[in-house]
Formats: sequence, C-alpha cells, structure tokens
Amino acid sequence: MMKFIDELKKEELDGKKVILRADLDVPLRQLPTANHQSSTKIGDDFRIRAQKETLDYLVDAGAKILVVAHLGHEVSDKSFAPVVEEIGKILGQTLTLVPHAELASVDILFRGGQVLLLDNIRQDEREVQNDEGLAAELSNGFDYYVDDAFATAHRSHASIVAVTKHLPAYAGFLIKKETENLKQAMEAPTEGKILVLGGAKISTKLPVIKNFLDRAEKILIGGALANNFFKMQGINVGSSVIDDSVFLDVKSDKIILPRDFLAGNKNSVSGSASVYNRIMSVENDEAILDIGPETIKEWTEIIKHAKMVIWNGPMGYSEHKDFAVGTKVIAEAVAAAGYSIIGGGDTIAAVDKLGLLDKYSFVSTGGGSMLSFLAGEKLAGLEALSYYEN
Ligand code: 3PG
Repeated sequence: MMKFIDELKKEELDGKKVILRADLDVPLRQLPTANHQSSTKIGDDFRIRAQKETLDYLVDAGAKILVVAHLGHEVSDKSFAPVVEEIGKILGQTLTLVPHAELASVDILFRGGQVLLLDNIRQDEREVQNDEGLAAELSNGFDYYVDDAFATAHRSHASIVAVTKHLPAYAGFLIKKETENLKQAMEAPTEGKILVLGGAKISTKLPVIKNFLDRAEKILIGGALANNFFKMQGINVGSSVIDDSVFLDVKSDKIILPRDFLAGNKNSVSGSASVYNRIMSVENDEAILDIGPETIKEWTEIIKHAKMVIWNGPMGYSEHKDFAVGTKVIAEAVAAAGYSIIGGGDTIAAVDKLGLLDKYSFVSTGGGSMLSFLAGEKLAGLEALSYYEN
C-alpha cells in the first residue's frame, strides 16, 4: 500500500534528512535587460506552486530537505542556477543550490540551509537509466524519501524508482490529490461523463481514447488530433498538422469529430481567420487551425449537460488570437461543468491566459503522466510507491 507523507508525524521528521522528489520542469523565458543582456525567468509557475504543500509540511516539522528535480526533457548540463531564487520565492523558502559534486558530504551540505535544491538531476545520465549506483549515492545519509513529482511519475528514473529501494518511501500531498482525482475520472459512472481531447500527439492520446470508449458517454476530439480521424476517412486535410506515428485502429459512435472548422494558409494566418470550412473542402496549401462555430455550438451544449468533463489539449492553434476562439469557448464551458478535470501543459497555459485556472474542480500537473494514468497504464513511479498493491 502506498504510504502518505502525513503518516509521518512531525516528531518523526524533526531533524531528519529527507529527499523530496519534485517536478520543477517549467517553461523558462529569456527577457531582455539593459546592455543587450537577457535574464532567465519562469514562464509559468503552476507546477512549482503545486509542490508547496508538501515542502511546507516538511519544513514545519523541522526536517532538512534536499529537493531533487529535473530541468528539460533531455540529459544535459542545464542548470537551475538562473532561476533558483525565483523558485525559492514561489515556494516561500530560501533555496540553496547544490552542485552534484557536493552531494557526497550531506552533513556539511545542510550547513548551507534547511532547504537545498540539487541541480538538475538530468545532468547525470544515470538518472534516466534508473541506475542503482546513482540511487545509492543520492540516498546516502538520508532518512526518508518523499515523492511528489506526479508529472514525472511515468518515468522509470533513478530518483523516482531506484531510490525507493534505499529509503522508506512516501507520497506527497500532490500525488495524493492527483491519484484520487484521476482515479475518480476513470471510475465515475459513464453516463454524463465527457472526455474532451485536443492538441497534436495522437500517439499519447490514442490509448486514452481506447480506455475511455467504455468509460465515457462521449469523446469529443478537436485540435490536430481530429486530423488523424479525417485522414482515415479519406478527407484531405491539406497542410494541417498531423501525427502519422500510429495507426488509428479505433472506431466508435461515441467519438464526435468537429462538424466544421477554421482553415487558412499557415504562412499568412494573420487576419485571415474568416474561412469556415465544412469538412471536405480544405485546399492543399491550407491547414485546419480551429474548430468552427457549428462545432462550438454543439459541443458547448454537450458539455453543459455533462456531470463530469475531463479535458486535455487545445482545440486549435490557440497561441494565435485568430484561432483561439474554440479553445476559449470550450475552456469556459468546461469551467461551468459540474465536475471538471483538466491537464496538459498547453491546456493549462491557455486557461491561465484566460484567467480560468482556478475555475476547474481539479487541474492536473501531469502532461504525459496524466495521459498514461487515464490510459489505464501502470506508472513506474507510482508502482515504486506501492500504489498498485492493495
Ligand atoms: C513533463 O514535463 O511532463 C514532466 O516534467 C516529465 O518530463 P519528461 O517528459 O521530460 O520526462
């Protein structure tokens, strides 16, 4: 059975050394400063804020904490150095950045402060190999391991999986909330449950579609995802974004595709959003860039009557104002639904821009991990915490 952090009483944590695996993998922006220099700033702090509750619990209990996190998808020498202060401010703590080379002397390390941040764990290629040696080095001198990196729970990495063999392992408050809400998304009655999917990567969303054919009343598919279905039906999608990496072996009356959409020439999109196409009429040099007005009308009506809506992925090229309407209207409709669960980096960025982030019942910090969970897959990080054992 998965153990939760609040099973550790404050007395048990006082003075103890704890590794906290967090997900601080957020978009960074380069902002110009004087003298033609630039400074690195955090583009979106949602994921960082989500780690605060567990960190506060540990700090209040008097534990000494080494936060372990990655930055970027690849193994690289990327560092938290330019943003460590900003991360500390968001978390309400003074964070001391620790280079990997200093990890060996844990007692000396904590002279630097109560909360330390180990530099990007993906600077060490052994991390992504789930290497036992790295896990042993990491855990040496520590008393407990707490995992709250739900967004990385689908990775079999050393600081997620191998480390749990070396220390008593606990799940943080975020993992608790994520698993409870996503489990509810899977198990709530089919009737009145609507899944809305958009975005581009059919390869990560097809397993979710398949898993929800028996779990949802309807599955609305917009964004570039819909292009795969149009193409399968022999419809010309012109130069639309399409992910050809998987074969679309799914067919069901529950799947609802857009009736109409906005299409235009991607190279001259600005101000040319007024092309409403019924299906069948995309020119070769045009791309489908948003769902159309009839689709918006039909889908908002469906969402309005839903008991639960689960949404991941924008409805079109929402970064461009001319093609953001579909995503905006769906975002508002989902926010008004009885119970709403949303997730995915692009979806969160879009609703945040609309000022709607706090209007949903639950916002998942997971991208790939949310989709894996909803696809019914076993997540390596949750397995390591004994989530699947009853
Ligand atoms: C994410 O950005 O979804 C998580 O931080 C996991 O990152 P990864 O896909 O690079 O493993």
